[in-house]
Amino acid sequence: MRRGRRWRWPARVALVIGLFATGWIGLGWFVFGLRLPPLQWEPAALPYAGEGENFRVEADGATFLGEEDGVLQFFAFVPEPMFLVTCKEVTTAQFSVGNIHPEAIEDGFASSEQRNLVREYALPVSPDQGLMVRLNFPQREQYRFAALGDTGGEKELGIALERAADLGADFLLHLGDLHYTERGIFNAATHAAKASIPMYATIGNHDFHRGREHPVKDFQRLFGPRNSFFTLGGVSFLNLDTAADTYPASGGDRGKMVRELWDQANPEADWVVFTHRPLADPRVALGHIPAEKDHALHHQGEVEWLQEAYNHFGVDLVLNGHIHASYGTEMQGIPTWIVGNGMQLSETGPSGEPLILLGDWSADGEGLQWHTEPLNAP
Ligand SMILES: [Fe+2]
Repeated sequence: MRRGRRWRWPARVALVIGLFATGWIGLGWFVFGLRLPPLQWEPAALPYAGEGENFRVEADGATFLGEEDGVLQFFAFVPEPMFLVTCKEVTTAQFSVGNIHPEAIEDGFASSEQRNLVREYALPVSPDQGLMVRLNFPQREQYRFAALGDTGGEKELGIALERAADLGADFLLHLGDLHYTERGIFNAATHAAKASIPMYATIGNHDFHRGREHPVKDFQRLFGPRNSFFTLGGVSFLNLDTAADTYPASGGDRGKMVRELWDQANPEADWVVFTHRPLADPRVALGHIPAEKDHALHHQGEVEWLQEAYNHFGVDLVLNGHIHASYGTEMQGIPTWIVGNGMQLSETGPSGEPLILLGDWSADGEGLQWHTEPLNAP
């Protein structure tokens, strides 16, 4: 009897703690979404605004890198970002924006300096008048983009950016996995800063977690959010996070963004999805690898949820990495290209050599067209 009493209170305390923990995880599951691996809630989004001594710059389409010598630094993750500058007292707001096409047109205010892909601003601002700065992508008769993934953040990324520019691309869609090495994500940012064309990146599994590291926060700060959307020419580009399984598939930022865009679906328009992991691994259907070794989304509910979203938006082309090879295929009726041999490994796809994809769109053309070129310059 005495023994039973001694254990009654610890048991009750353990029960209460257990109920709280279960409730907390359950709440997170429904509110934020769970990510696996590693087991964690959806990472928090980072703010897109920076504050100087007397001023504030709020970005729409650019991530805030930090402040250096009084200059707030941003990195654009869409081709046409906007900035709202406000202040508490009369001052000169100094900020810079990287990853801007060299021919981008300034709307509102001119930059004081342009070097490579960076625009620098020093704008007189007063409390009664906020300023709006917008960068417009150069008008093209034909827009061209390139796509490639799985380069890591070292010299292979530099080669990919150079090759894309040489092939006439206006920008590179990076299909994820920049962080293969300890400094990968930071070295990737250095390569992106040296490039001659902008790069917009989707997050790969290695950018989400790498062993005990959680580079996702650095990815979000350096390259932008895990899910984003922009239009250019007549094409809608949808960047979706498939770096780690999401439970439920509709949870987290991805589900929120897809729901917000839901009404913009237009079957006449051209839509491109760029996301790291494919819905299925074409090598399994081809009999090249056994099903248990596939490199695709594993969670069937997530495959179905994404498939429904792709169908709803009338997606014309899905671009994936993750598989370190080059495969053009069709998944559930949607043309899909896996261009994931950015490390230039021995190519196992039918091309026999690593490929880079090029997409073209012109107003008077036949809509979105695409083809591949060898990643290595002939
Ligand atoms: Fe990957």
